[in-house]
Amino acid sequence: MDKEEQIINTEEFVKANMKGYDSGHDWWHIVRVRNLAMFINEMELLADPLTVEITALLHDIADSKFAGDSAKGYLLISDFMDKNGLSSIREQVINVVKNISFSSKSTKELDDPLLFVVQDADRLDAIGAIGVARAFNYGGFRNNKIYDPEVISPSGSVHGTSSTISHFYEKLLLLKYRMNTLTGKKMADERHEFLELFLKQFYKEWDFSVKIK
Ligand code: ADP
Ligand code: NI
Repeated sequence: MDKEEQIINTEEFVKANMKGYDSGHDWWHIVRVRNLAMFINEMELLADPLTVEITALLHDIADSKFAGDSAKGYLLISDFMDKNGLSSIREQVINVVKNISFSSKSTKELDDPLLFVVQDADRLDAIGAIGVARAFNYGGFRNNKIYDPEVISPSGSVHGTSSTISHFYEKLLLLKYRMNTLTGKKMADERHEFLELFLKQFYKEWDFSVKIK
């Protein structure tokens, strides 16, 4: 099986296994993460390009929020990779997929340049304009409030976890400090600035009031 065929088969496998995920976690998230990961890797030359592409494509398959049981997800990936001539990179890819999530439970992060590249790509897709869109999309999917002024004080400190705006403080605004690669950091700076601009405008509109005489 040649590389092109392996990629096409992986794309089909991912599309078939992501049905039922929220639309912020859909096929287009995978496409964006693949593009970002391949770009970062081209700039940094950290990992084998085919392995980067395959890992980016597979990175959300075993997400327990959607896949239910993530152990089953890893078995599914493992089986798929064996059947598609990808056994030699199977262990590495699965370990990276396990470690990719911001909320990853593993105590010790894996020290693999492949992880650095794909994790940066996944994090970049959670910030900037796309990140804002995905956050509100996810909040809608969960029926969360967009903002609860009683939960976040005007100074921005967070006292609860119920709104999508609070998710900015719990996760999105922290991501630029967690980038692994220089290329990722540079791209995160621009996207982070956009988050801050968005919040500024959001609060300005939220607090709009007129004094009627
Ligand atoms: P990761 O893949 O790093 O674990 P998640 O799967 O938790 O990230 O999140 C995927 C997307 O959903 C991201 O864009 C993230 O910002 C968004 N998201 C996750 N949790 C929330 C939340 N409580 N409110 C709003 N958006 C959320
Ligand atoms: Ni992802």
